[in-house]
Order: sequence, then C-alpha cells, then structure tokens
Amino acid sequence: MNLALINITQLVTVPSHGRRLKRGPEMSDIGVIDNAAVIIEDDTIKWCGRMEDLSMGTIKEATVLDCLNRVVMPGFVDSHTHLLFAGSREEEFAMRAKGVSYQEIAEQGGGIISTVRHVRAAPKKDLKKNARRWLHKLMQHGTTTVEIKSGYGLEMETEVKMLEAINELNAEEVISIVPTFLGAHAVPPEFRKKKAEYVREVIDRMIPYIGSKRLALFCDVFCEKGYFTPAESRAILNQGKHFNLAPKIHAEELSATGGAEIAAAVGAVSADHLEHVSEAGITALAGTDTVATLLPGVSFFLNHPYAPARQLIDAGSAVAIASDFNPGSCMAYNMQLMMTIACTQMAMTPEEALTAATLNGAAALKISGQVGSIEPGKKADLCVMNAPHYTTLAYHFGTNHLEKVVKKGVILEF
Ligand code: NIG
Ligand code: FE
Repeated sequence: MNLALINITQLVTVPSHGRRLKRGPEMSDIGVIDNAAVIIEDDTIKWCGRMEDLSMGTIKEATVLDCLNRVVMPGFVDSHTHLLFAGSREEEFAMRAKGVSYQEIAEQGGGIISTVRHVRAAPKKDLKKNARRWLHKLMQHGTTTVEIKSGYGLEMETEVKMLEAINELNAEEVISIVPTFLGAHAVPPEFRKKKAEYVREVIDRMIPYIGSKRLALFCDVFCEKGYFTPAESRAILNQGKHFNLAPKIHAEELSATGGAEIAAAVGAVSADHLEHVSEAGITALAGTDTVATLLPGVSFFLNHPYAPARQLIDAGSAVAIASDFNPGSCMAYNMQLMMTIACTQMAMTPEEALTAATLNGAAALKISGQVGSIEPGKKADLCVMNAPHYTTLAYHFGTNHLEKVVKKGVILEF
C-alpha cells in the first residue's frame, strides 16, 4: 500500500548527501522544502520534493494525508536510553530538591544500585510490560528508533535477561530498538571490595557470551570516579570490539576523567554525556567520526552543568542529542523537550538540534544509511507535527506537537 503526504507546509529532510553524519556547520543544513510532498511505497520513501513537481498520477492508488499547516520531519532517533527498568526513584527526586546530590544518593546505596535491586527481582515479562508502556509513550512523542541499554543487572543472568527482553520487544513492537550491553554501569554490591574481579567477569564471561550470542550491537561503559577508570573502560571496550560489540562510552558526566580521549583512542561510535569534557577532550573528539551524544535532560533534571555543545560543534564534531530516559538522571523521553533545552541552555540552534535528534542520532547507532532523514530509499519513519514552522517544535515547549507518526510506511494509531 502506498502513502502520499501532500501540501506539507514545511518538509524538513535533514539531507545526508550520502554521508553517515553531519559535523560542525553541516548540522545547520536541514534541507527545508516549503509546500512539499512525500511519496511512500511499502516501508520506503520513494520520492520527496515540491508539490509543483509531484505528478498526480503517482498518488492515484495511495492513501493521501493532507499536511497543510504541518511540519513533516524524520522520526526522532533517541540513541541513548536506559528504558528497561523496574521500580521508581521518586524519593531521590525529593531528596535532591532538599539539596542532596545524585552522587551522595548513590553513595548511600541509592542510585543505579537501587534500580538494580528491582530489576534483579523482576521477572522478564514484568520488565517487558513496564518497557512497553514507555515505548508507546515514546512513539506518541515522535520517536521511531530507540537504543536501550542493559546495566541494571550487573550479573550475567540479569544482564542476559535484560538483553533478551530488549531483543524480544524489538521483534514484537513497531518501534525499532537497538540493544546495548552496559555490564560496566556500576560495581555491584557483592563486588564492592573487589572491583577488579567484577571487571574480569565483564571481560572474560559477559562480553564473550553476549557478543557471540548477538544479544547486543554495542558495548558501553560508565567511565567515572567511583565507577570504572579510563584504563578499565578501555580494556572493556577493546574486548567488546573483539566480540563485535561496537564501543560507546558514558564519558565526563560527573567529572573530567579523560573518557573523551578514550573514546577517540578506541574509535568509539559515540561518546555520551560530556558535561565536564576538557579542552583536550574536545580537540581529541573533533578529528574523529565519534558522535558526541549530548543529553540535555540530564543536566536539566539533576541541575548539573550542560555539555559545551557550541564548542563541540564549532570544533567540527558531529553532535547528537538523546534523552537518556532512566529513573535516576532523566525521567523524560520527549525529544521535542530535549531540543528546547539544547537551544535554551546549550546554545544550539533549532536547525542543529533537529539534525542532532535525527540523522546524527542514527549515526550514533550506525543506522544513518536507513533512518534519520527523509530521502528516497530510506525507511519511511516520519512525524507529522501540528506546527507551522520547525522552530515551533523547540520554541513552544513542554507540550507535544506530534499529530501523526509514520513507522515503516504505516500511520500508527494510538
Ligand atoms: O546516563 N550515568 C550512568 N547512567 C545513567 C543514570 C542511570 C541511573 O541513575 O539509573 C546516566 O545518567
Ligand atoms: Fe546513560
């Protein structure tokens, strides 16, 4: 069945020009076509262009969607989340409101470890049920592809349970899901005094098993004081590469640790967070294909410093933005809101924010050849926004502009 979107007031294509990402000034080129149309055949974009160039014959058999006064844009690619979890961390939110920090809460046995307790205890079907609820909400806000990390198991059995749940959800749900192994998210309580042994467990047992079973496509690590050192992070990511898990890293989130330099050295697909990245780290990333994935919602939610988006882009990096949706550091998944925070707090332009939330997010998942832009041959994942201009998406904030979402050529019903 064919689908035709016509009379689109503003079509935002985010053209890739045949490349896998947009860096520096290229991020401003979002390829807007006024009064446009998109023709979709099955799950693929066939044509897009100006209404006056559309031959009406091609839409005869198609379902036609009138998009007057609407923006049509690529579906959001949320390239960093911890969406599969159990339990809630509301009490931590209330503690932070009284001045207790995220790190202090973690030191008192809360934080990541508190979610680990819930996830270890939860049957796989309950984890999936929770996640399904969030996945539907994500789609209702325009996200058509999402990455989900393990990392609330911190033991072989539960890490595998999480990754199996993530893979099953990908097969069962319409949204596309990319699985990442994050066994090195924190040191589990039973290894508290023997961290080196847990690192060996991740390297010698978990990565070989998960890599050879193809349970994940990426390997991530939390490189941070009190978590994993740059040297441990490097060893874990190199072992991941050995087992076909492409490297990602949580770098420079709470302090400057040199995680950005590790990302550059191992050829990471993305370096995520970067709130405390040093000048040297910015320079190290600028010359590479590593996507700098920034998480505006985390700084907003924890009242932490923002990553230097402007400097990263001006240095020539490819910047993505993602939600980091998780119960501890960002209980939000609305990518429209992430764009607002990126513009108001991180000096990104609306154009850069759009590129960051679509094509560069796809690049951070190594799928920018298939999604992240509206171009013939790409998957028909797109959003119809009830807004007359793309700037409105970030400008009019705290609301949901999504009117319809098309996933692989099908209009989703909610
Ligand atoms: O990206 N930094 C580590 N991981 C998450 C937080 C996870 C949690 O608090 O549960 C993050 O901020
Ligand atoms: Fe994270």
